[in-house]
Amino acid sequence: MKVLLGVTGGIAAYKAVEIASQLVQKGHDVLTLMTKHACEFVTPLTFESITGQVVIRDLFQPPPQHRPIHITTADWGDVMLVAPATANFIGKVAGGIADDVLTSTVMALRCPVLIAPAMNDRMYENAIVAGNIKKLEGHGYEFIPPEEGYLADGYRGVGRLADVNRIVAAVLAKAPREGQPKPSGPLLARGIEGSDKSQS
Ligand SMILES: Cc1cc2nc3c(=O)[nH]c(=O)nc-3n(C[C@H](O)[C@H](O)[C@H](O)COP(=O)(O)O)c2cc1C
Repeated sequence: MKVLLGVTGGIAAYKAVEIASQLVQKGHDVLTLMTKHACEFVTPLTFESITGQVVIRDLFQPPPQHRPIHITTADWGDVMLVAPATANFIGKVAGGIADDVLTSTVMALRCPVLIAPAMNDRMYENAIVAGNIKKLEGHGYEFIPPEEGYLADGYRGVGRLADVNRIVAAVLAKAPREGQPKPSGPLLARGIEGSDKSQS
């Protein structure tokens, strides 16, 4: 399976390394997309070493075959996981903002999108964040809710990234089954099935 792994700028970014490693060890291809802020927490080199693929982090990096990188990337994936997902990322997608390679790719996807938020409990309980999650769920984005426990900022509460094994299992559950149509994502859920995948 071809897995797109989006990594955003939260402390739990280091756990995405373990997610990538588990998926690779299970024989899946993993292509990592990192936001600028994610690179403050973990280096792209770590993901590149584990996945054997160049990390995509610049919307304007020279595109393969002269096609926009976010479209080529969106076409490649069978499933997308964003882990950890910041409040900022969730808010941008909910607001239709596509101002970097990760959000632009998410906007162009046809495949299932799994989002695993991780943040301080007060951020997670913020009414705007909660509303954004609800809105995205309504559009077919699937959330892997955070857990309660120790948070890196010293607080306890709900906001800790879901257990890595649980996240990996959720991704694997999206594997296309032989003879079955590919699982669809948010766009198909909105009823535009059959639209030309090559159109951007
Ligand atoms: C040390 C530190 C830890 C942070 N941890 C989180 C976090 O766990 N979750 C979150 O939503 N934002 C967190 N932030 C804030 C995000 O980094 C900030 O909103 C940033 O704009 C996110 O950018 P991105 O979504 O493009 O990666 C943290 C910031 C700092 C400085």
